[in-house]
Amino acid sequence: MHFVKGTTLEFMETGRASKTALGVAIRRAAHQLMDAPPVLDDPIAVRLIGTGYRVKMGRASHRVGRDLRAFVAARSRYVEDRLAEAVERGVRQYVVLGAGLDTFAYRNPFAGLRVFEVDFPATQEWKRELLEEAEITRPEGLRFVPLDFEDTTLDEGLAEAGFDGSAAAFFGWLGVVPYLTLVAFRATLEVIAQMPAGSGVSFDYAVAPESLSAVGRKAFDGLAGRVAAAGEPFRLFFMPEEMEGELRRAGFNRMEQLDSDQLNEIYFKDREDGLKLSAVKLGRVATAWV
Ligand SMILES: C[S@@+](CC[C@H](N)C(=O)[O-])C[C@H]1O[C@@H](n2cnc3c(N)ncnc32)[C@H](O)[C@@H]1O
Repeated sequence: MHFVKGTTLEFMETGRASKTALGVAIRRAAHQLMDAPPVLDDPIAVRLIGTGYRVKMGRASHRVGRDLRAFVAARSRYVEDRLAEAVERGVRQYVVLGAGLDTFAYRNPFAGLRVFEVDFPATQEWKRELLEEAEITRPEGLRFVPLDFEDTTLDEGLAEAGFDGSAAAFFGWLGVVPYLTLVAFRATLEVIAQMPAGSGVSFDYAVAPESLSAVGRKAFDGLAGRVAAAGEPFRLFFMPEEMEGELRRAGFNRMEQLDSDQLNEIYFKDREDGLKLSAVKLGRVATAWV
């Protein structure tokens, strides 16, 4: 794996709301307005970001913005598809790790599925304000779990929020792994791997930049520069075989990984508007089941 060391000053300040969470939320909202039919059907996305941020959606429409918008929509759809399978198998707890402005909880179609949103306190506070401004009701079963993956283990945080550790759960972990240290990544995975049978986790990760083509490297550098400027630098990367090793090390035996070609085949085939993931393949999605 590839771990970029840095001082704590370079890391995300925990006292302010995540700017990258806003960035991906704007892209999901743009996807609703610009792409028909949407790969991710998310009627809450546009309402949640409010009129103040809607002006920023123009950026999501140029070529690079379009590629990223496709990826952001596809990864959410992928996680929600795996969640639906878990629910079908009887899972009744869904934990959204690094939830940011994820909207699943506010359009949850599964009766009896409890949702836990885990994130920094400041990001959750800001989300609450946006929800209030947009008059989006907080569902009864939803719990906010404020924590920093770097200093609190997931089981500690969840226990305080009424999570049932003796029952299976599904975890979605989108757009978070590249921002973590290897220690926090492993600690979180290990907690999930210890969950009861039937549990699982879906997430995405960034592939090691040195493995990218020249065009891919350029796209990566642009994106990495933007998130670093937002105070949330990428610092953790894996090659696919390294990720498989991490999942096995944590205790998982059943897993899958999908690259952009596979996601295109599943979610973007035969679209008339040509929307699809770009060939640069900056990241992958993965699922591991207990
Ligand atoms: C790029 S955003 C993705 C948000 C959301 N998962 C989505 O797909 O819209 C990254 C999220 O991870 C959260 N995050 C990053 N590092 C974290 C940490 N150490 N502890 C808790 N949350 C963290 C940020 O606050 C932010 O909400």
